[in-house]
Amino acid sequence: MSATLRRIVITGFMAAGKTSVATALANRLGCRMIDLDYIITERERRSVPALINDEGVARFREAEGRALRVVLEMGRARVIALGGGAWTVAENRSLIAEHDCFTVWLDTPFEVCWQRITESEEARPLATERETAERLFHERRSIYALAQLHIPAGDDKSIEDLAAEIIRALSA
Ligand code: S3P
Repeated sequence: MSATLRRIVITGFMAAGKTSVATALANRLGCRMIDLDYIITERERRSVPALINDEGVARFREAEGRALRVVLEMGRARVIALGGGAWTVAENRSLIAEHDCFTVWLDTPFEVCWQRITESEEARPLATERETAERLFHERRSIYALAQLHIPAGDDKSIEDLAAEIIRALSA
C-alpha cells in the first residue's frame, strides 16, 4: 500500500507534542485523528492518571493494549497519537505492524518535554520527578527508534513544520 494511504501512528516521550502534531497532520490530510489516552479515558470512564493511581501501571497497560486493539480494528482514524508508553510494549508494536501502520517517532529533547510536563495541567504519574522522568526518557530512546520515521522535534520547529515534515516523508 502507498505510504500516503497508510494509517500513521505517532509515538514519542510524554509531552513530546504527539497529540498536537497528530491533530495538525490530520487537518492537513483531511482525515480523522484519535488520541489513544482519550479512548482509554472513554472506555474506562476515568482519566489516565486516575486509572494509574487507582489500579497501578500494569492494569493501565492492559487497558491501553485493549484500547489500541479496538482503535486499530475500528480503522476509522487515519492518524493515531499514542501515549508515551504504548509503543514500549512489544505486543502493541506487533499489533501496529500487523495493521500496516506507518510509525513516526517524534523525538523531542528531554528539556523541552520536562518543561512542558512541569507547566502542564495534565497529571503524568510516571513523570512526577525529574530524575525518574529523565531515566525513563533515556531507557526508552532505543525502543522509540524502532519507529519507521525519526523526526527530531526541538523547540525550533513549529507543530505545523513537524506535520509538514511527516507529510513530505510520507510522499517521498
Ligand atoms: C505515559 C504517557 C502518558 C499516559 C500515561 C503514561 C507513559 O501519555 O499515557 O501517563 O508511560 O509515557 P502522554 O505521552 O500523552 O503524556
